[in-house]
Amino acid sequence: MTRPEYLDGNVASWQRQAADYVVPAERGWTSIDPYWGIFGIEETVVQMLPADMSGLSCIELGCGAGYVSAWMARRGAQVVGIDPTPNQLATARRICAEHGLDIEFREGFAEAVEFPDASFDFAISEYGAALWADPYRWIPEAARLLKPGGRLRFLTNSAFVPMCAPDLEADGPMTDRLLRPYFGLHETRWPDAPGETEFHLTHGDWISLFRGNGFDIERLVELQAPAGATTAYTWADGEWAHKWPVEDVWMLIREPSS
Ligand SMILES: C[S@@+](CC[C@H](N)C(=O)[O-])C[C@H]1O[C@@H](n2cnc3c(N)ncnc32)[C@H](O)[C@@H]1O
Repeated sequence: MTRPEYLDGNVASWQRQAADYVVPAERGWTSIDPYWGIFGIEETVVQMLPADMSGLSCIELGCGAGYVSAWMARRGAQVVGIDPTPNQLATARRICAEHGLDIEFREGFAEAVEFPDASFDFAISEYGAALWADPYRWIPEAARLLKPGGRLRFLTNSAFVPMCAPDLEADGPMTDRLLRPYFGLHETRWPDAPGETEFHLTHGDWISLFRGNGFDIERLVELQAPAGATTAYTWADGEWAHKWPVEDVWMLIREPSS
């Protein structure tokens, strides 16, 4: 596949942002217990990862600074993390060496991954490909990479974010008004983030895409922030996220027969 037209803009943005993610990444690498999303919701609530991943071949699609890969490796998995942003990979490789884990961090993008068909038992993305790659390109690629019966789990923004967030982050967090249409969600570009492209779909469109690529749905977890939760991300707020989901976690299984 040719390089997606939006990729260079997103990589340029992540090259700039990578330095801001070093400290949060180091906290993630150090944590024994996984936590998810912008409110750090505990793994006991979300259950993204099997408790024992021994013998599983895993890929993280858009690994960033690599702490999710570390959590899988510590559960016994053989892990590859791919990401298109060199500065993010440099952080991941440095911290990985400090922790003495054996994880391959490889430059690449989720829309066309340089591994043969059916290479992996488990694929995951936390705000990586899940938000920054076109689902109509990366979901078929994830299906190709997974063995029959393999699992795909990913966390991304709910459709409420592109509907309820003001145009400018400086204008404050998500509102309780529907500012943009639900139907037609796909590419999202924010006026204060030139060059960046995010991707969101309606639930109906996600489900059609999964079914069209041979995935069954195990669970959809709409993450609820605990009462009193806070986040460093100014576009969201804990009180709002206690009432409505800011993030969705999709858990899929590649049909054994497809
Ligand atoms: C918020 S980080 C998420 C990764 C990880 N959970 C973290 O917080 O470090 C977003 C990552 O998505 C990556 N990304 C952007 N476009 C991508 C694509 N087309 N395929 C895979 N990853 C992509 C970026 O390079 C960035 O490292």
